[in-house]
Amino acid sequence: MPVFVKELMGNKQIMQADPNKDKVKVLQAKIRDLLKKRNAILLVHNYQRPEIQDTADLCGDSLELSIKASKTDADVIVFCGVHFMAETASILCPEKRVILPVLNAGCPMAGMITAKQLIEKKKEMPDAVVISYVNTTAEVKAESDICCTSANAIHVANSVDPSRQILMTPDKNLARYTKSKTDRKISYWNGYCPIHNNLTVDQVMKVKEAHPKALFLAHPECPPEILDLADEVKSTSGMIAYAGSSSSNEFIIGTEEGILYPLSKANPNKLFIPADPDMICADMKRTGLTEVLRSLENLGPEVKVPEQTRQKAKAAVERMLAVPVK
Ligand code: 13P
Ligand code: SF4
Repeated sequence: MPVFVKELMGNKQIMQADPNKDKVKVLQAKIRDLLKKRNAILLVHNYQRPEIQDTADLCGDSLELSIKASKTDADVIVFCGVHFMAETASILCPEKRVILPVLNAGCPMAGMITAKQLIEKKKEMPDAVVISYVNTTAEVKAESDICCTSANAIHVANSVDPSRQILMTPDKNLARYTKSKTDRKISYWNGYCPIHNNLTVDQVMKVKEAHPKALFLAHPECPPEILDLADEVKSTSGMIAYAGSSSSNEFIIGTEEGILYPLSKANPNKLFIPADPDMICADMKRTGLTEVLRSLENLGPEVKVPEQTRQKAKAAVERMLAVPVK
């Protein structure tokens, strides 16, 4: 259906078609049609572009998307996110075809540790339990004991025997946050998300002063001095759930800007202010509707984890999925 833009000309209102919005609707309809024909499911991370989110079968955080991938009976999974997310789906569903529409959409943090580096580190800490963030390659997961996401890191750490030393990789900020919330012995790798790690106290204070009534919700990938200023520390979907149930009407959001769309969509009467409008993950924005449509037509690019690596990585991901999250 065409979308009309009202344009005031003198006293006369004219209706004008918005060609871009029409193009979006056409692409979305073609994608939904092909998804059906291919028995495919479209999984979309909360940071993706709005028009991609609006086409999804499920939008969510890393944990929700992993759970959905592990349970779907679709033949094809189209993953709109970054490479490690599609790899996680491939680890869990080897019999399905997992497609990442833009193959070079990566996560810079996942690139901050290699399997070789982890193997060397484990030699220094032979008794440590390795907890790796899902934002890692399949090879790093294969060298880890258990995975975690931003939504379950504390629960995962608490599932480890308290007498054991823990090594968390690769995100130092998620590790330090988890350490502050448990009595477990946690060492960590020195990786970080460039987008979250760059958020400064000065910037947050400036936004807080401009919006004194707003609650500040921050992602655990932010540095400790930022998390100290937060009213709540949440995963991306955790923020959406919290904002919906909170009696507050204004929120400052300390994570990638893509989350503002689902937050506003779920809570149209509430105000969401970015802690820093420059928090944009270029990799998360690489995917457009055209790439999704092309990937469904070609059934590629496919992401497939080699079987030996997959078996080992699967054990770490499945141990994570077995940890109950209240
Ligand atoms: P969530 O699991 O909270 O969605 O986070 C994923 C991510 O990459 C954050 O930068
Ligand atoms: Fe990776 Fe950061 Fe982008 Fe998330 S926002 S995908 S952690 S670079």
